[in-house]
Amino acid sequence: MASPEAIAIVLGLFAHCFVFIHGEWHLRAPAVVVFHVCVAALLYIWELSRLTANGSWTVVLVGAYIFSLLSSISIYRLFFHRLRIFPGPRLAAWTKLWHVWKCRDSRGHHVLEEWYRQYGEFVRTGPAEITIFHPAAYEAMDGPGNRNTRSDWYDLLYPRISSIFTRDRKLHHERRKMWDHALSAKVLPQYNQKVVDRVRSLEDLISAHSSSPVIINDLMHFFAFDSMGDFAFSEDFIQQSGFLDLALLLYLVYGKCGIGFICWSFVISVWPDGCRMKKTPAERDIASWFIDDHIKHGASPNRARWLSGDTATLVVAGSDTTAPSLTLLFYFLARYPQHIERIYEEIQHVDRRDPSALATLPHLTGTINESMRLLPAVPTFSSRVTPAEGLFVDGTWIPGNIKICAPRYSIGRLESAYVRPLDFIPERWYSQPELIRDKRAFAPFGVGRTSCVGRHLALAHIRLVTVGLVSQYRIRFAPGERNGEAVERDMKDQLTAHPGACRVIFEPR
Ligand code: HEM
Repeated sequence: MASPEAIAIVLGLFAHCFVFIHGEWHLRAPAVVVFHVCVAALLYIWELSRLTANGSWTVVLVGAYIFSLLSSISIYRLFFHRLRIFPGPRLAAWTKLWHVWKCRDSRGHHVLEEWYRQYGEFVRTGPAEITIFHPAAYEAMDGPGNRNTRSDWYDLLYPRISSIFTRDRKLHHERRKMWDHALSAKVLPQYNQKVVDRVRSLEDLISAHSSSPVIINDLMHFFAFDSMGDFAFSEDFIQQSGFLDLALLLYLVYGKCGIGFICWSFVISVWPDGCRMKKTPAERDIASWFIDDHIKHGASPNRARWLSGDTATLVVAGSDTTAPSLTLLFYFLARYPQHIERIYEEIQHVDRRDPSALATLPHLTGTINESMRLLPAVPTFSSRVTPAEGLFVDGTWIPGNIKICAPRYSIGRLESAYVRPLDFIPERWYSQPELIRDKRAFAPFGVGRTSCVGRHLALAHIRLVTVGLVSQYRIRFAPGERNGEAVERDMKDQLTAHPGACRVIFEPR
């Protein structure tokens, strides 16, 4: 008869080959740990019940089981996995923890850029993960007819569910309709009016500081958060004179850890009032669409979870993307002031408070695009899982059930997509199209059915702020800023971009 140690080793192999190798385990990790601890405890109790034992036998058995389980996983990943033919760091093929470790200082965009330079267009960045550095990457992930699903990352809010960021395609389709209504062309002018008012406050704030240095990051964060509070919840989160709302304070202090608190505080403090008050069409904010939907379908516990998950999404997506986009755009404007003057010329004969009129200005649009290309607000995030039958990307086959990623930061700098990719040339977007080799490489808002639902609102924000400030000020770096070198050098990739501090001076015209 086999010894207990040999049985433990076989059990470890079986656990890998017949259980853990299949499907996803991230949401079941606590249950898996509890199960194993219970089995080990039972073994220990049984061993102690034998008078001669002291517990070391249990330790040996558990050790043998874990050793064989981890060895089986390692050997499989390194030598037998379907992705073994793809190049990439050996340690990343062994464990995703290697990538996590490399990103410990939040410079994930640099890590991936380095791996692209070293390994090429298709890199194995995790045991079952391929990162695609190719202009066709977005199309492959979300283009027409794709059968990919969202990756495990989208379980981030679990057990809260963001119904729009859900991995369930059917649920996403259904819930996206509500978001589309809440941000449709019909209602956007209402939100835009709120944004225009906030831009005025921003202009007043800058005029109070005129000619003294301001940290553009803080200014744009306050603006974006304040503005989001208005169009999303009709709440005045922060008076731009400097009084911080408690939630904002937590947000700034704890970063993303504060999100849960903020959402919780919104749901309990803002929404009950909102539920009671029926808003007139002119007063509508995005939250009122959520509330109507919630009431219409009966406020079941499941829908209450959607409510809080959607709120979390709205808070982050509605401000944490616009703020870095604005900061980075103003960084580029301070660095290349000739474009400020080109935009200034362009806006002489348009209504500066009309986002649709501003959308027709080629140099303004080119400058925004170029800023989003070189330093996107979402530098590396977005991942999908390939369908069971796998996927071809420009002739390269990626097997089924593999996570694929498309990092915007690197794709925006591909030589295969842009001529002089590292140069800031807004004209490539209108008068010099020959400087774009492959248009598919530009997707700051994503593509297809999961692309950004707030895109038009965000662009209206960015255009209104840019034109509002450029029409009144010249912008330059504050003394000692060394051409804003800290912005890119210290930029962190924490789902959204967190640029390094940038001090600029707004000089009245
Ligand atoms: C410059 C600002 C913005 C940028 C760069 C941006 C970028 C993106 C990107 C890249 C995605 C796709 C994410 C994925 O692949 O899963 C996305 C999705 C989304 N964005 Fe934005 N976004 C911006 C502003 C906004 C605003 C202002 C809102 C809301 C008011 C918003 C709401 C959303 C939502 C709800 C989704 C999920 C859409 C879906 O799954 O169907 N975003 N955004």
